[in-house]
Amino acid sequence: MSKQFPQAVRTMLCGFLFMFAAAAVQAQTTAKLPNVTILATGGTIAGTGATSTTTVGYTAATVGVQSLIAAVPEIAKVANVTGEQVFQIASENISDAQWLQLAKRVNVLLAQPNVDGIVITHGTDTLEETAYFLHLTVKSRKPVVLVGSMRPSTALSADGPINLYNAVRLAGTPEAAGRGVLVAMNDQIHSARDVTKANTTTTDTFRTSELGVIGYIQGGKPFFYRNVVRNHTLDTEFDVSKLDALPQVDVAYAYANVGDVAVNALVAAGARGLVHAGVGNGSLPAKTKPALVKARKDGVVIVRASRVGQGIVARNGEANDDELDFVVADTLSPQKARILLMLALTKTTDTKNIQRMFYTY
Ligand code: DGL
Repeated sequence: MSKQFPQAVRTMLCGFLFMFAAAAVQAQTTAKLPNVTILATGGTIAGTGATSTTTVGYTAATVGVQSLIAAVPEIAKVANVTGEQVFQIASENISDAQWLQLAKRVNVLLAQPNVDGIVITHGTDTLEETAYFLHLTVKSRKPVVLVGSMRPSTALSADGPINLYNAVRLAGTPEAAGRGVLVAMNDQIHSARDVTKANTTTTDTFRTSELGVIGYIQGGKPFFYRNVVRNHTLDTEFDVSKLDALPQVDVAYAYANVGDVAVNALVAAGARGLVHAGVGNGSLPAKTKPALVKARKDGVVIVRASRVGQGIVARNGEANDDELDFVVADTLSPQKARILLMLALTKTTDTKNIQRMFYTY
């Protein structure tokens, strides 16, 4: 070779061989990384503030998905990530149409063999609701992880980047499959069914206080300690693939000296289902009950929930549900009972069947 090829050519050939070998190793390494799609919807994780100490009074939903990904280069070392900007909103404004759009997109992506998991970046205000809606409508065992942040991307010690990194690690972890939709925030892993936003501004806001987290993410590695026992994802009877709208279901909140104005107004506005966020064990104030009874007689499905936040609303406890033909929410919060009732009403108006659903999901 030395007589045929001068040193310069030999060096160049060696360089090419090295580059080829490095590319082959890289390709092999990349091939081993999970393929995770990030669906961005807005929120504080995509928010910006006027200064680095602005942690309230910032603007949510201003940073695009590619910038979110670029801000965390460590993600590329643990997953092959693609990003889609599904919509860009503050999550208090999310609509039924956007829930349906998101659920349909998730199901299309997860049906693709080259997608191993999905991360959804989302505002924290309604994150628990979107997570539960997807918990009941995603038709795959693959991990779906919702993530947000409590500080905007411009803030000192912003929690978004580490939350996003953790969410991608979780979505790319085979052990996360089959557990339903998950919420990854503040190094904790929550089930979509039971998690709630419990503080207006702190980074530990997402809590599953009595039933507990299902795991932790430590050093980027997920650790699981329990599973939820109620049905979800592939084990639900709900299919939104052909739906363009969801039934109107509202929530009426109870408090001392409450009357029936809200109930009557919501029914008059067309509610097909009404969740009563009762005091205590779902108690019905005397001044509200007649309006609920009349609404039921007029065909509105009534679910008794509680504003308390934890515990089972007992059937035939604070009200004779058998006689009134009411449904009880079991342990679901009023906002999540509303979601299950919306989906239930896409299948049936039979209250015995709907009660079965509240004891199944
Ligand atoms: N506007 C709220 C939202 O988009 C900001 C809260 C947040 O994302 O943490 O949910």
